[in-house]
Amino acid sequence: MIKSIEWRGNFIRILDQVRLPHEERYLDCFTYREVVAAISRMNIRGAPAIGLATALGIALGVQSICCQDQETFYREMDLICDEFSRTRPTAVNLSWAIKQLKEVARGHSSSSVAELKEAIRHKALEMVEADLRTNQEIGRQGEPLIPPGARILTHCNAGALATAGYGTALGVIRAAHEAGKNISVYVDETRPFLQGARLTAWELVKEEIPATLITDNMAGYFMQQGKIDLVIVGADRIAANGDVANKIGTYSLGILAKAHNIPLYVAAPTSTLDLSLPTGEEIPIEERSHEEVTTIFGIRIAPEKIAVANPAFDVTPASYVSALITEWGIIYPPYSEGLRKVAQAKLVLCC
Ligand code: MRU
Repeated sequence: MIKSIEWRGNFIRILDQVRLPHEERYLDCFTYREVVAAISRMNIRGAPAIGLATALGIALGVQSICCQDQETFYREMDLICDEFSRTRPTAVNLSWAIKQLKEVARGHSSSSVAELKEAIRHKALEMVEADLRTNQEIGRQGEPLIPPGARILTHCNAGALATAGYGTALGVIRAAHEAGKNISVYVDETRPFLQGARLTAWELVKEEIPATLITDNMAGYFMQQGKIDLVIVGADRIAANGDVANKIGTYSLGILAKAHNIPLYVAAPTSTLDLSLPTGEEIPIEERSHEEVTTIFGIRIAPEKIAVANPAFDVTPASYVSALITEWGIIYPPYSEGLRKVAQAKLVLCC
């Protein structure tokens, strides 16, 4: 099984996604700052994996806090959390992970500092295990939506690499393949970081799931040719009305899919929901380095003086989304009601 991240006692092992598919190399982080850097540089990426790297990174960081009293411990922990929260703004899983660990820390207010450290480590490891189960459940829930023989378009990487394993959008694809549905996949290369060409293609080849790599601007052509039956993507943040922030280019796919009467499904864990935001307009969109656009593997492809923009995500309005596939079931429009019900059910059953 592909493992994007692993706790190894006194360090965190990350499968370095910047080097894939050419090299399967691991990056060992011995300090939380190395984990912070790995998230910023995208050695590990994808909303759930960013959340898990944050959780394990904080758990690693707090082990080195030298103090006897809880107040100092909480202060130091907050500083560590702040560093993580400055890395990547769009995926809400990051702040969700911080919130989870802070709740555990505050819930142990009468424990010793050593017990606090252990409780945080334990929770972070539990979050990694839970994410794998969640993805398998998303696959199970979403699989019935995939007709036999379906030709599926996916964008970016919402696979094992973007999670603790199995994947969200790619988890549904995996489940349909495992069910013997004879599916095939079109993979958008996903400029500028090439998560589709480098990562999704790598996962699909490894799993021997039939797949064809296309450039992002070919999607409309293949839809017009009647060669795509459905689109399935992951998400970085889903607002209360069902608007979805995901990798830049998803919005264009939403419009194309609607124009061609093709369903677009979004597969995401409930940790990606942000019901505090009424609509997608409030979702912060990360602007990344212009070099990602002007260079490919260090080779400049654009003139020096050209102005560049590099928003890493866009927001697909809920009206372009046919269904949201979560570990708690499939939510159909109108999303506000369905999302509220899922959040309530989760609250009742989990607390
Ligand atoms: O910039 P990235 O590679 O972190 O963006 C990843 C995506 O947009 C994924 O589609 C999303 O996080 C879902 S991953 C299960």
